[in-house]
Amino acid sequence: MFKDKNIILGVTGGIAAYKSVEIASRLRKAGASVHVIMTSGAQNFITPLTFREITGNPVVTTMWGEVTNYNVEHIALAELADAVIVAPATANFIAKASAGIADDMLTTTLLAVQAPVFFAPAMNTNMYNNPLTQGNIKKLTALGWHFIPPAAGHLACGAEGVGRMPEPVDIVEFVHNWFSRTMDMSKLKVLVTAAGTHEPIDPVRFIGNRSSGKMGYAVAEAAAARGADVILVSGPSSLEIPCGVNAIMVQTAAEMRKAVLENYNSADIVIKAAAVADYRVRNISDQKIKKNDDELILTLDKNPDILKELGELKQPGQILVGFAAETQNLIEYARQKLEKKNLDMIVANDVSRKDSGFNSDTNAVKLLFRNGQVEEMPLMSKKEVANQLLDRVLSLKQ
Ligand code: C5P
Repeated sequence: MFKDKNIILGVTGGIAAYKSVEIASRLRKAGASVHVIMTSGAQNFITPLTFREITGNPVVTTMWGEVTNYNVEHIALAELADAVIVAPATANFIAKASAGIADDMLTTTLLAVQAPVFFAPAMNTNMYNNPLTQGNIKKLTALGWHFIPPAAGHLACGAEGVGRMPEPVDIVEFVHNWFSRTMDMSKLKVLVTAAGTHEPIDPVRFIGNRSSGKMGYAVAEAAAARGADVILVSGPSSLEIPCGVNAIMVQTAAEMRKAVLENYNSADIVIKAAAVADYRVRNISDQKIKKNDDELILTLDKNPDILKELGELKQPGQILVGFAAETQNLIEYARQKLEKKNLDMIVANDVSRKDSGFNSDTNAVKLLFRNGQVEEMPLMSKKEVANQLLDRVLSLKQ
């Protein structure tokens, strides 16, 4: 996977910088060409010479130095990169990156790079937990940058807690796993539902909900990028249809049900991320309802539970995934749904959190499985959540 790939390894000024030597060495052994960019802080902990010897490539330490054996104009490395790994990433460096500052070669390269970016934060626990740092991480995560969560343990400052840079072998494996997802879903047909339904009241009004469709669209996009044949059945949404995805746009729960049932039999994997209205208006007015009376009573009828129906129709080999957006008793309600709807996995989402759920670009979910296992995922971009849940689905399919 790393063979002939150009990996930029950014090293910033933390004590864990010495561990980056092992990251460079592992990447090189795996066949990558490793290009190290060091911040000036990093050079207080370790010398460029060490990285030069390990990688066999020149090490970039400044934007203003002499050009040595190859063309280091200020964005040349950004154009060359297949991936960027910043390890360790200090609180200060994360803050600079999130502010879009470009005052050294590493920040400049990050602003210009199109390839995936991975950060391995390493710092004191309080610095890591500080809302400023967490806010910066959240901002970058929402842009699609990947954070390899720090480990807990004994820190160089004497404290115990979260903030330790993960072991080099784990960092390399994280990046490897990310790349090896490419095209691992070809030959699979994936049916995804997304966004909320609109249940009309009259020609101009409807009953809706706050679902933006971001999570479902991210799943559809990720599955298509991994080679799957994707059908996205979407309620009204302002999002762009992801590249390579066949979309069927619907308004109501009834329309969604019809589109889903028509495509269900041929689907290997069904992921129901839509927020389907539980009720619809019984008598939809042909004309706009005028505000003549002091009160207006609408009678609502229960909509069919599409997912429950799919659970009943499920064929051996089909994988059915549901979502549970809750504001309380998250795990308990999610487990009940998993059982009741005959699902293989449910993605439980606490929508009372600001950084998760409706309209947010990030999500912190819990995955529940039939065997009782509950997996708690850290806060990450909806795109990364999508990929992680597709990873789990593929392992259930084996
Ligand atoms: O029971 P609840 O509606 O909270 O379950 C959520 C899950 O069920 C989601 O995956 C959603 O897409 C699906 N659902 C459905 N049809 C409905 C209501 C919810 O498929 N009428």
